[in-house]
Amino acid sequence: MEDSIYGAHRSAMEDVMNIMLGSIDELRANITEEFGNDPVEHCLGRIKSEESMREKCRRQEIPETTESALEVIHDAIGIRVVCAFISDVYSVRDHLMSMDKVEVVQEKDYIKHAKPNGYRSLHMILKYDNKYYVEIQIRTISMDTWAALEHHLKYKKEIKNEQLIIQELKRCADELASTDISMQTIRDLIME
Ligand code: GTP
Ligand code: MG
Repeated sequence: MEDSIYGAHRSAMEDVMNIMLGSIDELRANITEEFGNDPVEHCLGRIKSEESMREKCRRQEIPETTESALEVIHDAIGIRVVCAFISDVYSVRDHLMSMDKVEVVQEKDYIKHAKPNGYRSLHMILKYDNKYYVEIQIRTISMDTWAALEHHLKYKKEIKNEQLIIQELKRCADELASTDISMQTIRDLIME
């Protein structure tokens, strides 16, 4: 077997991922205790597979080295947090930003500024303990549903009516976004 692109870092990376996931669990428990509802629907962490990382290096035309995987590419460690409501997305964000040893390297708010295809999500690149980058995606259930469907279609080859599909997907994304806002309003009314 060839050596791992992550060199000797694999178990430290898993530790970092588990610290982040553990901290999100703590936030969930605290908010649930205080307000009676869990801000997070589900949460997933993953270390990018050896094969995807090597493939990404080749795509970016950088050498397949540990340095590329950990320093140039920033999503070797990835966490996706799926929330019920838009306000929960920002609670999770604020919590992660306030964590000990966490530095925010980049934030992209595709909720306030959706991508042209309709993709919405809050993305952050964090650096943990001045060592490892962590890519965070925080989104609502609706945004997650849309992204999953769009992801399927993206990898399907030879799609007929491509322009129509792109246009329809964008319309769905915008409808879901408008529903998210309505649901948030209903929630705010209930919480008043
Ligand atoms: P990479 O795409 O990872 O090289 O990073 P980037 O600098 O382009 O960052 P960006 O924030 O655009 O995307 C990071 C990740 O968000 C992607 O790897 C996907 O998981 C997700 N993502 C971004 N755009 C889309 C999209 O249009 N559709 C879906 N389904 N996922 C997306
Ligand atoms: Mg991208």
